[in-house]
Amino acid sequence: MPDAAADTTVIKLRVNGRDVAVPAADGDRSLLEVLREDLTLTGTKYGCGEGECGACTVLIDGRATRSCLLPISEVAGRTVTTLEGLGSAANLCALLVPVEAGGRGGTRLDLFKVVEAIGRGDGSAAWCVSACNTVTYTAYMGLGPEGRREVFGHGPVAGWTMFAPRTLSTPVDGGFRISGKWSFSSGVDNADWMLLGVFFGPPSGGSPIPDIRYVMLPKGDYKVIDDWFVSGLRGTGSKGIVVEDAFVPNHRICGLADMIQGKTPGSQIHDSPLYKASVWGIIPFTISSPANGMARGGLDAFLEDMKVREGSYDHSPLANKPGMHLVVAEASAMIDSADLLYRRSFRETIDKIMAGEPLSLEHRARSRRDQGWSVMQAKLAAEKLFSASAGRAIYEGNHVQRACADLHALQGHIVAGWEMPAYSYGQVMLGGQPSDAFT
Ligand code: FES
Repeated sequence: MPDAAADTTVIKLRVNGRDVAVPAADGDRSLLEVLREDLTLTGTKYGCGEGECGACTVLIDGRATRSCLLPISEVAGRTVTTLEGLGSAANLCALLVPVEAGGRGGTRLDLFKVVEAIGRGDGSAAWCVSACNTVTYTAYMGLGPEGRREVFGHGPVAGWTMFAPRTLSTPVDGGFRISGKWSFSSGVDNADWMLLGVFFGPPSGGSPIPDIRYVMLPKGDYKVIDDWFVSGLRGTGSKGIVVEDAFVPNHRICGLADMIQGKTPGSQIHDSPLYKASVWGIIPFTISSPANGMARGGLDAFLEDMKVREGSYDHSPLANKPGMHLVVAEASAMIDSADLLYRRSFRETIDKIMAGEPLSLEHRARSRRDQGWSVMQAKLAAEKLFSASAGRAIYEGNHVQRACADLHALQGHIVAGWEMPAYSYGQVMLGGQPSDAFT
């Protein structure tokens, strides 16, 4: 009887948790080609086709690998995870959503650990997991029963984001009509739903901020613009979208004011104090959570390279140069100290919320300072590694370069920057009010 395991006519591998067999005669085809054409896993993109841009990155046995030049024969017996696998098979996009609603019922700490681990291999994937969980959690908490049923009642959800409000709405019977253009829609190609920030009116009722609400739009109610040609976080596919006169029923709208006050519909069906906390106490931690993993991934790549690299002229090992030792010590100390500061604030915030203690202005200002500081230190550490890597690091495929570019992009996010929370911390400590809207 033929031994199935010894069948040499096919190449066997596991993709997103299922067994796949490819004819051995196709062994020279690239993994990317098989993923996109045979398995229709089009979340993995064709970019340069030369192993440099990173658009085709997948995880092979948990390690980020370019798939465009990799023959399928070299993947025999291995485990491949694509973006679709991160979002659906593992349902990592609804990590914070309760199990009974189709999520994984994880904690904030679980999410941080997952994002950090993914960021070590791929900064873009880490950003997508962090952003998508922010959306699914916001939608789960912010929508009433009808909206929750519609969004979460049909299996795993990949919801993605453009939080910043971009357009005005027009009230109609049963809801609103919206039109407009939004940029930075992370992960839009893989989204089942988009969560969009919309202006519903000017400040009123003593509130200093306008009436901003978040609406859920299903795939098909928006057009994607292919405009994501950027230097950092390239693999997030954060393209623009256009909405033309789409109807949004009332039950698919969440109010920002409710979320700031912790008075969402979701807070009424869950006992945990975490569900009743203000979003601004928590979400900025999630936004800045990929930074540490990105910097550690850059350090991993730097160490791997320097252990074997030689000087171009004297061919002496770079691992013997005192300058390299100093770079390794300084960059790793910066990453570790950023990590410790972030974790301290994060844990103290969760502990206070769970104990039912209010988050004081001083605590919130310090948390924002620590988030901004940890992202900045991670970025500076990556810059140090990039500079010490010399000319080789400018190639697009260099992981140190990519970690550095990804951290620059992350720090450009309005919530992950340094100056705003820094000024606000100083303002609060000197008896004033914070100018940072997220404190
Ligand atoms: S398409 Fe593979 S690295 Fe660009």
